[in-house]
Amino acid sequence: MKRRSVIIGTGSHLPQTILSNDDLAARLDTSDAWIVERTGIRRRHIAAPGEFTSDLATAAARQALEAAGLTPDDIDLIVVATATPDQTFPACATVVQHKLGMTHGVAFDVAAVCSGFLYALTVADALLTGGAHARALVIGAETFSHILDWEDRTTAVLFGDGAGAIVLEAQMQPGDTASDRGVIACRLHSDGRYNDLLYVDGGPGSTGTTGKLRMKGREVFRHAVTNLSSVMGEVLEAASLQSADVDWVVPHQANLRILEATAKKLGLDPAQVVVTVDRHANTSAASVPLALDVAVRDGRIQPGQLLLLEAMGGGFTWGAAAVRW
Ligand code: UT7
Repeated sequence: MKRRSVIIGTGSHLPQTILSNDDLAARLDTSDAWIVERTGIRRRHIAAPGEFTSDLATAAARQALEAAGLTPDDIDLIVVATATPDQTFPACATVVQHKLGMTHGVAFDVAAVCSGFLYALTVADALLTGGAHARALVIGAETFSHILDWEDRTTAVLFGDGAGAIVLEAQMQPGDTASDRGVIACRLHSDGRYNDLLYVDGGPGSTGTTGKLRMKGREVFRHAVTNLSSVMGEVLEAASLQSADVDWVVPHQANLRILEATAKKLGLDPAQVVVTVDRHANTSAASVPLALDVAVRDGRIQPGQLLLLEAMGGGFTWGAAAVRW
């Protein structure tokens, strides 16, 4: 027998306001045709004034708890992955904890930008399987609209706001990687040499301002395909599995061309890749749990299936996880 962390509920939340490519083309030198052809993005959701990352995170968490048939009383750990917390501190996770009416348990944030959910999942998995905690809310939530330079067409068209959440529960499983439910293996990487390819040009310790997102997109793209296919292979090997065993890839949603190229490198059918980038754009740490929730709720993901979660982001950071549903 082996203690595994099993996903027992998913949830998500998107702000009401939708911004289409045409809306952006009305105020920037861009076009729906360029954005769709280069990225696959058609629209994105944008938080309303006064709607914070913690609000999106709390709504997604409530939905995940409902799906799991649990209440906040049943949770003893909250990990929020975000690069856009409401304030520099306290951690967004403790704000979510308060909004859920919890005064028990442990809540903290993980900062790994677009890879944040994979980092949060890996940390929560270690705390659950190690026996320190029993049930966790793992949340990816972002309002990148607050850190975009809305005059910069090379970045403004790429991102959106949203949140996704899972409830992770420690359960005893038979101990067989081919049939155990839950997180089978996780692998993370980072390499700070590439900080200047994707970053925010401000912060509390430097400019004293929040700053705006800056990206050398073409170079990030090149690294993304290589790093993602490599870490996906690595996690499969760690789980003693092969790409033929994978039912669904639930990837970070940065660019449709990255999703397709990465799947192809692993010999997977593009139809096995869960795609939401067209509707949500890049929601950074929220994109993997948002895509997961979509594919769970529309019935694509079924018990016993093997999922490969992956993401890459600023730092660079990147990671993957093999999860049996
Ligand atoms: O989530 C974290 C990870 N992030 C990523 O993975 C993002 C990775 N990068 C990408 O997805 C792509 O590189 C982009 C979508 C950002 C850009 O696509 P690209 O095919 O690499 O385009 P490019 O940057 O090479 O730009 C091509 C042309 C340039 O014009 P010139 O120099 O050829 O005249 C850009 O100025 O497209 C121009 N351009 C635009 N044109 C219309 C750049 N942005 C726009 C725009 N509308 N919004």
